[in-house]
Amino acid sequence: MKDRHIDTSWESSSLWYDKTVGAQGHYYHRQVVLPGALKLLGLKPNDSLLDLACGQGILARHIPKAVSYLGVDASRSLIQSAKQTRVHPSHLFAVHDLNLPLTLDHPPFTHAACILALQNIDSPETLFQTASLALKSQGTLVLVINHPCFRIPRQSHWGIDPQKKLQYRRLDMYMSALKIPIQTHPSQKNDSPTTWSFHRPLSTYTRLLKEAGFNISAIEEWCSDKKSTGKMASVENRSRQEFPLFLAIAAQKN
Ligand SMILES: C[S@@+](CC[C@H](N)C(=O)[O-])C[C@H]1O[C@@H](n2cnc3c(N)ncnc32)[C@H](O)[C@@H]1O
Repeated sequence: MKDRHIDTSWESSSLWYDKTVGAQGHYYHRQVVLPGALKLLGLKPNDSLLDLACGQGILARHIPKAVSYLGVDASRSLIQSAKQTRVHPSHLFAVHDLNLPLTLDHPPFTHAACILALQNIDSPETLFQTASLALKSQGTLVLVINHPCFRIPRQSHWGIDPQKKLQYRRLDMYMSALKIPIQTHPSQKNDSPTTWSFHRPLSTYTRLLKEAGFNISAIEEWCSDKKSTGKMASVENRSRQEFPLFLAIAAQKN
């Protein structure tokens, strides 16, 4: 493990993120991410879920009531909001930087999840080790990330090919790991809070999962369900169905 990590918590963007997600989740939470993640998790009564980088607790508000839950995030304000909107008194929330190891005083979990956050974590290997230590044997880890093959901040773009009459995706880099600052409010330029996005090729995630003792059981790719209108509609709708927004991985601990 690297000795020092940058602060990747979304504390400085927490007000905006809390409002954007709200009680029910943002558009993609509601339409794509939460339904897909819950299906992969397959939670049953008496299961237990460790939610890594839980933000303001959106997943906790969508799981069956009889599932015990612990959510961990580096942002104090998002954890505070998660506690205030807690839907079940047994749900627990804690502040922790997941770039650092976490040892839990808790019976082994049946499930763990990391939703839309792995690309914001500097040390995915540490997060996988934390999940591995916290899960019981054959416990399931579900990861949902911005698709690393098609969504690389600053290095992937849409373009229009007028001859073929299609919208294509251009990638300028893929195999190199990247650390990219993202301004929460680009119009504010340098006054905007900043979060960090880390790009790694897909093979980095599969290798690190294996090293942490996981076997991958499913890989899914989820497209946007939005529909364009207007004269570019058919071109845009086609490319939306060709290039998935999200990658989901389910893996079992050995
Ligand atoms: C895009 S948000 C996703 C939050 C939540 N899972 C959701 O779906 O709304 C990314 C989250 O990762 C958290 N995060 C970033 N780096 C972290 C770290 N090192 N340890 C714990 N949480 C971290 C941020 O604070 C933020 O809440």
